Amino acid sequence: MSLTINRERLLSEIDALALFSDAEAPAVTRIVFSTTDLKARSWMKARCEEAGLTVHQDAVGNTFARWDSSDAVEPVVGTGSHIDAIPNAGKFDGVVGVLGGLEAIRALRESGFRPKHSIELLIFTSEEPTRFGIGCLGSRLLSGTLSANAARKLTDESGCTLDEVRRKTGFGGELEQVKLSGAYYKAFVELHIEQGPLLERQRIPLGIVTKIAAPASLRVLIEGSGGHAGGVLMPDRRDALCAAAELILAIESAARTSGAIDTVATVGICDVFPGAVNSIPSRVRLSVDIRDTDLQRRDKVMRTIATTCESISARRQVSIHNELVNADAPADCAPAIIEALSQSCRKHQLNFLPMVSRAYHDSLFIAHIAPVAMLFIPCRNGYSHRPDEFAAPDDIVRGTLVLAETLAALST
Ligand code: GLV
Ligand code: MN
Ligand code: MN
Repeated sequence: MSLTINRERLLSEIDALALFSDAEAPAVTRIVFSTTDLKARSWMKARCEEAGLTVHQDAVGNTFARWDSSDAVEPVVGTGSHIDAIPNAGKFDGVVGVLGGLEAIRALRESGFRPKHSIELLIFTSEEPTRFGIGCLGSRLLSGTLSANAARKLTDESGCTLDEVRRKTGFGGELEQVKLSGAYYKAFVELHIEQGPLLERQRIPLGIVTKIAAPASLRVLIEGSGGHAGGVLMPDRRDALCAAAELILAIESAARTSGAIDTVATVGICDVFPGAVNSIPSRVRLSVDIRDTDLQRRDKVMRTIATTCESISARRQVSIHNELVNADAPADCAPAIIEALSQSCRKHQLNFLPMVSRAYHDSLFIAHIAPVAMLFIPCRNGYSHRPDEFAAPDDIVRGTLVLAETLAALST
């Protein structure tokens, strides 16, 4: 089998998909089930059908594009990632795994390869937490990590439920039907940009992920007392934003002092009410994201955050309510897929680095029902979730080639 990745086709599709955006280029914003996301989905579906794949979508909009080869059998060898993008993102996060996955399948078909196991591309719904507050919505439902009942109750900022939004945008059927059986996949491999600096720093073209770090997130509501910025004297204040400021710094410190570089914590949202220059903030909402490769250490940071909330609340006379959004375990990648990826790298004389994924991915949840692994390519300066996110064409093509080779090995 001689595989050729069609570089021009792949790169031009990455550029074309980036045009479906609610932000001005080079930024990409593509929030799940927005008009822009729906247009991008239709465009993706057309590309998959044009490639001869059979497309179907489940009740939450996860999109499966299967290479229907008459002699191929189940279980399926899967690949894929997501096309939704957080506000002000770049054009490679998720997209490289989706369009690279599609190109890998096309390259295999064009090479004359005949898979023994069906090969399928999966485009996950809402890997990003932007709209419904929780990441990996599609893969949580596919793996049964999130129940249909709990998913139905998720709401967006305007109070619309996931159920209303998905039905209104054309995704009918019952959420109960989204879950896949543990027998569905033989293997699942996700290609992704690293979203960190290690490959670039070490000048290694590929990373093979051995473990995906454990993510958790919290919503914090702080309520104090508002009032006139001139009239209320300092000793009488119960300023919710000052309490939030203390808490944010304590969260940073809890991660910094965990004893390991792998602990990270971020407060990415801070909503201040009423948000007037001459009014004392009476209410603040924070969103906190905490991750670690080690579950115990991650949970220790979460306990520290909880006790800090109590002490700030008592000292500043504000109420602090802490709601757990998710606290997921880390995932180990499957040795057999790691080996298939390593062999593919060796076959093409490509150096690779075994590494941990500090970002989360849909593979973290698919790992509950299938053997998974991930292949990383470098991204410039490790930048991601920002408009200047960049992956070099050679790296994208290399990753796609190794992915194609690996899908072939796993499907024979
Ligand atoms: C995924 O986008 C993550 O936040 O890790
Ligand atoms: Mn992302
Ligand atoms: Mn991603």
